[in-house]
Amino acid sequence: MLRALLLLGGLAPALPAGPHWAYKGPHGQQHWPEDHPACGGQAQSPIDIQTQRAQPDPSLPPIRPVGYQHPEAGGFSLANNGHTVVLALPPSLRLQGLPHAFAAAQLHFHWGQPGHTAGAEHLLDGHRAPAEMHVVHYDTEHYSNASEAQHHAGGLAVLGVLLELGSDPHPAYDNILSHLGSISYAGQTTSIPSFSIQDLLPQRLDLYYRYNGSLTTPPCSQSVLWTVFQQPVRISLAQLEQLQGALYATAEAEPEPQHLVDNFRVPQELHQRQVLASFPREPEGYSTGKIVAIAFGAAASCLLLALAVRLAAKRMR
Ligand SMILES: *[C@@H]1O[C@H](CO)[C@@H](O)[C@H](O)[C@H]1NC(C)=O
Ligand SMILES: *[C@@H]1O[C@H](CO)[C@@H](O)[C@H](O)[C@H]1NC(C)=O
Repeated sequence: MLRALLLLGGLAPALPAGPHWAYKGPHGQQHWPEDHPACGGQAQSPIDIQTQRAQPDPSLPPIRPVGYQHPEAGGFSLANNGHTVVLALPPSLRLQGLPHAFAAAQLHFHWGQPGHTAGAEHLLDGHRAPAEMHVVHYDTEHYSNASEAQHHAGGLAVLGVLLELGSDPHPAYDNILSHLGSISYAGQTTSIPSFSIQDLLPQRLDLYYRYNGSLTTPPCSQSVLWTVFQQPVRISLAQLEQLQGALYATAEAEPEPQHLVDNFRVPQELHQRQVLASFPREPEGYSTGKIVAIAFGAAASCLLLALAVRLAAKRMR
């Protein structure tokens, strides 16, 4: 994501310098902390959200995007940075419903590989959705851009949208996916017509999980206030396959092209952190497993009671 963030600063779309990293192999994720110490920190992302353990917090307001529906005229810049596809967003897109005023910087995706429908970064109760979109924002009250904000706790706010499969193509996503052919290789950039970014988000912006975490790519800065929406957005299988199949992680000139696939990080330990939910806990269903557990519990209590009674009776004798 650092590269993605650097792209925003108006730097040339060529790949910025910096230690090389990948998801697998000798520079793969287990080696990230060697060059990027924060990647070994105690507040890393993504996480596997245990939905029943999320603490309901009724004070969490709905997320309110402002200016998302009608971005100012002119196009957006879409780039393949070798790690993901990045859509640069103008700071006129704002987010309300967070502790500070945040402005948009960019959005990008994480996905799996063709034939697999697991590529999201955040898991819900161990389930990995086919893909995930992250919309990155920075605190405009305290920082002048995302590159600066990413070095400060709470400097970034990222919206996580899980992408599941549905029967119909999602028209808003075509605004991005139909242009991937123009940025097949790492370092390539294209300009696309602007469209309503709001249409990429789920319907219910009031239902989400909230926690403090990090960028999910080096340098893994622990500066992100995460909002992971409870509702997924549905795209078609053909759309997912476009995302999985259109891009290379390598530049055009490189002799051995590598497909840009499986660009998701494994879930990180929660450690001392708490995950909040903006909505009340759903009543837990009484599954078979639970009924068995309750029955065992009851039987065990009876046994203990019987033993205690016997012991007491012995003592009295
Ligand atoms: C971001 O803001 C900082 C501080 O104002 C500035 O030094 C830096 O050049 C800016 N970076 C970009 C990429 O615009
Ligand atoms: C995130 O961190 C900030 C600052 O330390 C804290 O005020 C806030 O309660 C934390 N939020 C969550 C969801 O843990």
